[in-house]
This record gives sequence, C-alpha cells and structure tokens, in this order.
Amino acid sequence: MRLKPIAQQVVVVCGASSGIGREAALRFAERGAQVVVAARTASALESLVDEIRERGGSAVAQVADVAVFEQVQLVAERAISAFGRLDTWVHLAGVGLFATFEQLTMEEFQQVININLMGQVHGAKAALPYLKRDGGALIHISSMGAKRAIPLQTAYCASKHGIQGFVEAMRVEFQHDRVPISVTNIMPATLNTPFFDKARTKLGVKPVAPPPIYDPRIVVDAIIYAAEHPVRDLIVGGAAMGVIRTQTLSPRLLDAILRWVGYELHNTHVPKPENVPNSLFAPVEGWATVRGSFGEQTVARSMYTWLEIHPAVKRAVGGTLFGALALATMRKKR
Ligand SMILES: NC(=O)c1ccc[n+]([C@@H]2O[C@H](COP(=O)([O-])OP(=O)(O)OC[C@H]3O[C@@H](n4cnc5c(N)ncnc54)[C@H](OP(=O)(O)O)[C@@H]3O)[C@@H](O)[C@H]2O)c1
Repeated sequence: MRLKPIAQQVVVVCGASSGIGREAALRFAERGAQVVVAARTASALESLVDEIRERGGSAVAQVADVAVFEQVQLVAERAISAFGRLDTWVHLAGVGLFATFEQLTMEEFQQVININLMGQVHGAKAALPYLKRDGGALIHISSMGAKRAIPLQTAYCASKHGIQGFVEAMRVEFQHDRVPISVTNIMPATLNTPFFDKARTKLGVKPVAPPPIYDPRIVVDAIIYAAEHPVRDLIVGGAAMGVIRTQTLSPRLLDAILRWVGYELHNTHVPKPENVPNSLFAPVEGWATVRGSFGEQTVARSMYTWLEIHPAVKRAVGGTLFGALALATMRKKR
C-alpha cells in the first residue's frame, strides 16, 4: 500500500487543542498538508488555526466531543467540505483519571471509556467511508498502557487495551477485504504534555506516570512517519519498549515491581485537590500549549524510536552489530 507524501494530504487531527495533537497539527501544516483540527475547546482550536495560517499553512477547525458519534462525523464532513477529501485521520483525543478503582465512580469510569475508547471507534467509523475511496491512514494513539496496565489508572488502561483490541481486529478485516487503509497503533511512554495538569486526580497530588518523561515531539515524529509509511505498531520511547518486552517475558515480575513502586511513580508531591477543574466531563481552558509543566525533567530524544522510523539505518546498525559479533566469535574459536 502506498500513502501520499504529506504535502499532498488532507489530515484530520482529533484531539488537537493541546499536547501531541497540537504539535502534530503544526508539523503536518508545516510540511504542506491541509489540516482539520478538532477538540472540545473552541478558543484553543482558533489560536491553533491562527498560528498555522500565520506560518503560511492551511487549516480549519471543528469543535467536537469525540464521545458523541454525530459530532465526530461533523469533523469528517468538515474535511470534505473544506478540502474535498481525507487522506489521514490521527486520533489522539484522550483524558486521564488517577485514583484507585475503589475511589472511582461508575460514571467516571464510563466517561474515560466513552472518550478514550469509543472516541477512537467513532473516529475510525466516521473516517472509513472517505479513506476507503482513495486509500489513506488511520493512526490511533493509545499508550504503553495498551499492553501493560498499571495501578491507579484502571479506567485509562482498560480504554487503551480496548484500542489495541479494536485496532488489531479492524486491521485484519481491512487486509482481508483489500480496503486500502493503513492502520497504525502508536504506543507512547510518559510525555511532557498538559495531560497530567488537566487530568482528574483523587491522589491528593498532581499525578504523573512512570518515568522517564519524553518530549512530545518524539511522538509527532512517529505520527508523521506513519502518515507516509504503512506501519503496524510504533512504540514511542525506549522505556515503553522495555515495559512491553518485560510484560511479554514475565507479567508477574512487573506485578511485583508495580506493587512495590507503582504508587510512588504517580506522585509528583505537588498538592492538588480533587475539586480542581479537570478535563473529564468538560474541557478546561488555559492549556492551549504543546508542553506541560515537567520542563527540566524531559528527555528530548529516543534512540529506540528514531531507529524504528529510520528502518534502513536500523538494518545497517543491526547488520554491523551482527557482523562484529560473528567476527569476534570466529576469532575466539581460533
Ligand atoms: N501525556 C502522556 O504521557 C501520554 C502517554 C501515552 C499516551 N498518551 C495519549 O496521547 C493522547 C494525547 O494526549 P496528550 O498527552 O497530548 O494530552 P493533552 O494535551 O491533554 O491532549 C488531549 C487532547 O484530547 C482532547 N480531548 C479530550 N477529551 C476530548 C473529547 N471528549 N472530545 C474531543 N477532544 C477531547 C483535548 O482537547 P479538549 O480538552 O479541548 O477537548 C486535547 O486536545 C491521549 O490519548 C493520551 O492518552 C499520552
């Protein structure tokens, strides 16, 4: 399957008012794509469209709550009415909820599923008829939590596991029916976006997820790669790869580690009461930014992910290492 160069694409970014989505919209527009940005916060979308246009790019905004299918359909229709087609749908819209399962209400748990999982389903369903016409890419942003769930994030990890199951089955259906749509699941490690500042917390502190905290640009590099190259899964951040590999080898080992340090890894020690405005049931203003508040602790690069999106270099490095190992073994035998 061939995907168009970014400069010839119409790209929808669902969840673009802040964080990864905001940076992705800016970068797609910078590369010449026509961009449709969607989220609940109208003011943040307007400032994003202004910024894209000031830099010479082309963008329109559509306010939508991804939990409501009809509103997500409007996003797809906006792409068609503004630009005539749809080539890539990037779905990032998501919220965080930090508490023990016992502390959660059923309404809170359900809302995380409605936004994080059903939102992704709504995005794919709304985009499918248009992507099917000329082919294109569905890019789903889940999390390393799609493969390994962690304490204090039961609803979040359930939603991300759900994305993994949904996307995996849908991909095979497309392959079976020769639907020319590339389906990618991107699984990032912890990132410095406003996600944790906006999340609902019952921990008494501002939450965070297990370190290291990567810069969101790394995820955007992966998203842009997937928009041009059909790729199945992309894990972002070597730390996420380490967690996912360990889970495959020994889930019980990770259970033990998380029993021991899992709670402390969520604790920033910055007090935050439960009643502070958060993004679970309504958007919070004031976070029309790419980055969150972990500035100095952020890791700027991931060699692992860079190699994943530069497969030729990865093969060359792998070949060189294999050659060196073979040579060393031969010398030892002599
Ligand atoms: N930050 C991390 O450590 C991390 C790690 C792995 C995966 N992720 C995933 O990456 C994705 C993007 O997160 P981020 O880190 O960039 O956080 P973020 O800055 O909080 O961005 C979340 C985006 O989703 C939108 N959104 C939330 N609920 C929505 C709804 N009901 N309808 C429409 N849009 C909605 C938000 O806009 P409005 O509030 O304006 O609607 C915002 O644009 C999420 O799915 C998150 O789970 C994040």
